[in-house]
Amino acid sequence: MKPFVFHMPVRVVFGTGRLAELPGFIPAALRRILVVTDPGLTRHGGALSALGAALAGRTWDVFDDVDENPTYAAADRGAARARAFGAQAIIGLGGGSPLDAAKGVALLSTNDGTLGEYLKGKRQERDALPIIGLPTTSGTGSEVTPYAVFTDTEARTKGALSHPSLFPFLSVIDPTLTYSMPEALVVSTGLDALAHAVEAYLSTDAFPVNDRVALEAIETVLASLPAARRKEPPAMDAMAYASMLGGIAITHASTILPHIMGYPLTVFHRVPHGLANAVLLPEFLRYLTIHSTVPDKVAQLSGMMAPYGGLETFLEELGVSCRLRSYGVTEQDIPLFVARVIVKGDVKITPAPITADVIAALYAAAL
Ligand SMILES: [Fe+2]
Repeated sequence: MKPFVFHMPVRVVFGTGRLAELPGFIPAALRRILVVTDPGLTRHGGALSALGAALAGRTWDVFDDVDENPTYAAADRGAARARAFGAQAIIGLGGGSPLDAAKGVALLSTNDGTLGEYLKGKRQERDALPIIGLPTTSGTGSEVTPYAVFTDTEARTKGALSHPSLFPFLSVIDPTLTYSMPEALVVSTGLDALAHAVEAYLSTDAFPVNDRVALEAIETVLASLPAARRKEPPAMDAMAYASMLGGIAITHASTILPHIMGYPLTVFHRVPHGLANAVLLPEFLRYLTIHSTVPDKVAQLSGMMAPYGGLETFLEELGVSCRLRSYGVTEQDIPLFVARVIVKGDVKITPAPITADVIAALYAAAL
């Protein structure tokens, strides 16, 4: 059997209403806590006031200067705040952006330098501050991963941190925090979970126990996302579960080509991250049907999607176009996109021959 390491050091407390139990899971020694969130959550303060009640008796502060697709600068600013405040732990409250930003802040609170230096390969000398994840969307999986993705606004590119100390030591997944998501966010984040699971399942780093996790995520998204879009609570609970499963799956097997092909769509055309991956999946799977080294897995995925009319129909019924033109992409964009994608390591763990020409052809087919 293929050798593997399955390491999931996050204490996950899952269930509706369980945010109230947060204090019981935070070690008493962690007295000063910085909450990293986004301005939207500060304004519509339901989640934040529930968190405030749970943190009664501790000293806490809020850093909410985090943009969608967090920038390098946001992490640098957050770390300056954390140091000035004397934070002993960082809570990420929100969608993937605040959660990832919280990880960058936690790293820079204990290590010198700027986020950009670490994304360029500077070695992390010390563990990050302890991190707690409180997701309010269902899809990024950041609540259970050691990854954090940031956008370099000047170079118009994305970079990812990965370090064992960036696993949250605790994530409270209370699906009630996701109930106020707008419909479009339910769909885009939910499709991120689907892409995570599909990509991790197909990755050349995949192994059997992780495959079971990925398949459970895929089944859950297919069965639940349409009802979650209608804001039905049991389906939204199921999507919170699927997000966690997708996060576990990419922790062990990573994302592959669709995620890196999606980055330029987000950076240049502001396509929400989850949508950017999902709209590329149908053409990617079509290519894999012919060229992959894992034909049984590709066939299994297409069998799972068949009851929904196939992936493209499933997406269209969620109101998602799989045509890149609908997002403003043109043929002239493709060479630049390809140049951004071909250099990334995730190309290597994609189970098919991937060259610049293949990537260009996939973008062109999706136009
Ligand atoms: Fe993602």
